[in-house]
Amino acid sequence: MESIVVHGKTFVPYISDEEIQAKCFEIAVKINNDYKGEKPLFIAILNGSFLFAADMFRHIDLEAEISFIKLVSYKGTTSTGNVVTAIGLDERVKDRHVIIIEDILDTGRTLYQFLPELYNQNPKSLKIATLLTKPTARLFDVQPDYLGFEIPDKFVLGYGLDYDGLGRNIPSIYQLEE
Ligand code: IMP
Ligand code: MG
Repeated sequence: MESIVVHGKTFVPYISDEEIQAKCFEIAVKINNDYKGEKPLFIAILNGSFLFAADMFRHIDLEAEISFIKLVSYKGTTSTGNVVTAIGLDERVKDRHVIIIEDILDTGRTLYQFLPELYNQNPKSLKIATLLTKPTARLFDVQPDYLGFEIPDKFVLGYGLDYDGLGRNIPSIYQLEE
């Protein structure tokens, strides 16, 4: 596989399409086992997670629902900083087993700010499935319950992840060249 150039920066092949697909299946099997007999609600966070959500969710054999939301943060409205709000969460969360689908846990800020909004709606349980995590980049205490790959704190793109809007359509994951 060759390196690619996006917005003038060079990226090198990092995680193959085959490895990603195998991991999507593996995660779905774990969730199928853990939620046997339950009817969980998956909430995929746009934009980055749309491919992971699609490839993982198609292996879910439960009576599951999925909803897609976008998180919007408002700056400077409160003394505590940004407030993250969900756009498009039309499913009721109360008393449901909820599984959040994320592309990558980086600093953890996004989910750390959003999780209280979900907890306020009293889900029966709340878990996080993420394809990637960068543990050394974490500034906020959010841990994945279902994880694809642990990666170093280097910028990646492809498979839903973008660099300034581009690269989401690449079927595998690339890493920014040193
Ligand atoms: P966090 O709030 O810092 O955990 O990261 C939130 C979002 O930043 C992720 O859902 C991604 O959309 C984006 N992000 C973090 N790291 C990367 C990366 O290496 N490549 C592309 N997007 C990233
Ligand atoms: Mg992004």
